[in-house]
Amino acid sequence: MDQSAVNPHYLEHVIDVGRSRDVEASEDIYSGNGTKLLAKGARIDERVKDQLLQHKLSKPLEDCMSVSSGVDAAQFMATAEALLDQSLLLRSVFRTGHDKALAALRQVQLSPQLQSLLTVYAEHRPRKLEHTVGVALLNAGMTQHVQGTPDALRTALLAGLCHDIGELYIAPAYLERGARLPPNEWKHIAAHPVIAFRVLHKMPGLGDEVCAAVVHHHERLDGFGYPRGLSGKAIPLSGQVLAAAELLSGLNESGPGAPRRADVAMKLIPGEFHQSMIDLVATVSRDCNDLDAALASLPKLDETVRRAEHIGDRLEKLARLVDSLDAELKGASQAVKDVAAQSVQRYERIRRAFSSTGLDTGAPRSLLAQLVQMDGELLHLEVTLILREIGWRLRELEREVRLRVQTAAPQEAPLVERLLAPLVITRDAEPAQPLAAAA
Ligand SMILES: [Fe+2]
Ligand SMILES: [Fe+2]
Repeated sequence: MDQSAVNPHYLEHVIDVGRSRDVEASEDIYSGNGTKLLAKGARIDERVKDQLLQHKLSKPLEDCMSVSSGVDAAQFMATAEALLDQSLLLRSVFRTGHDKALAALRQVQLSPQLQSLLTVYAEHRPRKLEHTVGVALLNAGMTQHVQGTPDALRTALLAGLCHDIGELYIAPAYLERGARLPPNEWKHIAAHPVIAFRVLHKMPGLGDEVCAAVVHHHERLDGFGYPRGLSGKAIPLSGQVLAAAELLSGLNESGPGAPRRADVAMKLIPGEFHQSMIDLVATVSRDCNDLDAALASLPKLDETVRRAEHIGDRLEKLARLVDSLDAELKGASQAVKDVAAQSVQRYERIRRAFSSTGLDTGAPRSLLAQLVQMDGELLHLEVTLILREIGWRLRELEREVRLRVQTAAPQEAPLVERLLAPLVITRDAEPAQPLAAAA
């Protein structure tokens, strides 16, 4: 018999939800060795926590509990209409209108297990219902752009609704701190698509395509996403589209100027996203014409110069590391050499993005001042957005190198740490990234 241990973080969220609504066993719950732990109808609360944690169960807890007044199509619809009302970006993603997507959302049917799971997800942190419905809508709009069948639309909505449920199984402290985690802690967040896949693929009514999209929703076409670092055709189209929807949603939730930031983010490193998604976001950005909103958050020129100098400095250190890499990795395993080769490619692409700003000439202060004098705020804005993205890509690069080496060749992690030591970031030199964009 397949036995399931109860995830303590998930159980904690279930118990929390039970403080405001009824959460009970939808059937008798048995331990893996056949002992009855809870009778059908028993409340799942603090009093039964230890009992549930001490035993493996004969069935996953997700399959034998119910939550009263769970989220449903009516609640998704109300949330979707409110989000569409508030967000021009969201409306613009639907190039031929959002009626079909709303009609499909109205018809979404959830199994009791999935309804309970999504209810716990929607309740576990503020604005999670908005996030999940927002991603479902963006995913539907972006899917319509490449694959307009009713089935594809339904799959896109369901995948969007379920995409982050893996977060329920991760220690909440990691999610609080988001992308600023060291690699041995970040790896828990990086696992959320795989955790979601494991939970969802056993649930009735979802199907393989929804699960495939969910497990790939942080992969990047050039192999620098997570959790598996897949590339190209290994990532199904549904996963590529959901990855773009997740990124766009994170930016949209993080404040004004999102369309323009999204346009820069998706174009920065060639080959990360499906070309249709890049083109769509460029069109959306033009339609939204959010220049005023983006200019409102423009930093002082001094701050931009500092950031440019900081990035230039990091790229220079990386260049020195790349030059000495062959000698440094002489005795290293093939696994570490492979990670190094992928990372050097990534570094080259980031460096090219920096060169595109013209700020890699060694004197960003005078150059920026001159350019801004000539072209005004618009150029300053463009440079600011590019620098912000480059800062994040450098951080991601460093994080991925550590994580990939730790996974592939843990015994060689100290060598990699020594090589990366000159790159350690001054935390306050970088802007905060919204959590939704990170996870
Ligand atoms: Fe998300
Ligand atoms: Fe995610």
